[in-house]
Amino acid sequence: MSQKTRVLTGITTTGTPHLGNYVGAIRPAIQASRAEGADSFFFLADYHALIKCDDPARIERSRLEIAATWLAAGLDVERVTFYRQSDIPEITELTWLLTCVTAKGLMNRAHAYKAAVDANVAAGEDPDTAVTMGLYSYPILMAADILMFNAHRVPVGRDQVQHIEMARDVAQRFNHLFGKGREFFVLPEAVVDEAVATLPGLDGRKMSKSYDNTIPLFEGGAKGLKDAIARIVTDSLEPGQPKDPSSNALLTLFEAFSSREDSAAFADDLRGGLGWGEAKKRLFERVDGVLAPMRERYEDLVAGRVTSRTCCRRVPPRRGPSRRRCWADCARLLACAGCTMPRLHRPLPRATPG
Ligand code: TRP
Repeated sequence: MSQKTRVLTGITTTGTPHLGNYVGAIRPAIQASRAEGADSFFFLADYHALIKCDDPARIERSRLEIAATWLAAGLDVERVTFYRQSDIPEITELTWLLTCVTAKGLMNRAHAYKAAVDANVAAGEDPDTAVTMGLYSYPILMAADILMFNAHRVPVGRDQVQHIEMARDVAQRFNHLFGKGREFFVLPEAVVDEAVATLPGLDGRKMSKSYDNTIPLFEGGAKGLKDAIARIVTDSLEPGQPKDPSSNALLTLFEAFSSREDSAAFADDLRGGLGWGEAKKRLFERVDGVLAPMRERYEDLVAGRVTSRTCCRRVPPRRGPSRRRCWADCARLLACAGCTMPRLHRPLPRATPG
């Protein structure tokens, strides 16, 4: 039997999904999960959320919204392992084992940590002001997420590539120390898909919560979508005047939801003088046409007809055995190194279908 490619990715549960998250991450991940030979692991990174956010209500809400988004967008939970990071204690256990083999110098080089230090230094503060150990060792938790399931491929944004490289380094170190000549952990590979659109936001820069230029995916309903599209920045050319279709975000957003032909026609109409108001109306209708059916499912899920707990419980990690085997193997390897794992024989939590 040919071995399946394990594809794994997580979303940190601090925000409400926007159009850019859907087009850039969720939609391509779901499409890829349908391919023959794909074995996908998608999860809610709620322990990662604690690094950025100390508001439990926010994390709980975001967890629900992100879970509901995956499900509404068509994730087939029979095909995919969909789970909440905090439901798998082995991930945090593995984090410690990996922490013990990770060079501090490697963590010193992590972008997020370095950026925090640079900001402190620029502000004349102590370099480590407000830097938690969570932020500092964030890449190790992420390595555990990935190595736990021996993922081969990890689709991520460019900003996360360094973390995957660190996961490889950590895996290599563990393999070297305890693998007894075999590649115990698979060395994961980052996948940055150039073909997947990076959506521009309202102001034309990359759509991102940190630029405050996002278009909501489901939040605020059709009206929220329409209002956001109305706020897309354009020049002040009048209807009838030829427009440059690449002068703002409209065309790229339209393309993300349209065939090549329809997009070409939209661009031609702009060059031919289509007014910005009319163009925004067309964009709204196009995007809403795709999102409306999903929005209905999303609202059902979020309205409490399905709570975030049952959302995740309905889709329990079916890969219990593989994570258990990984954990048992780790423990055995470490036992050889003199470290016994008393919890090795504890009963493992059973997934309860809801
Ligand atoms: N750190 C990732 C982000 O902020 C989320 C994440 C956590 C992740 N664990 C992961 C992504 C493991 C891929 C694999 O986007």
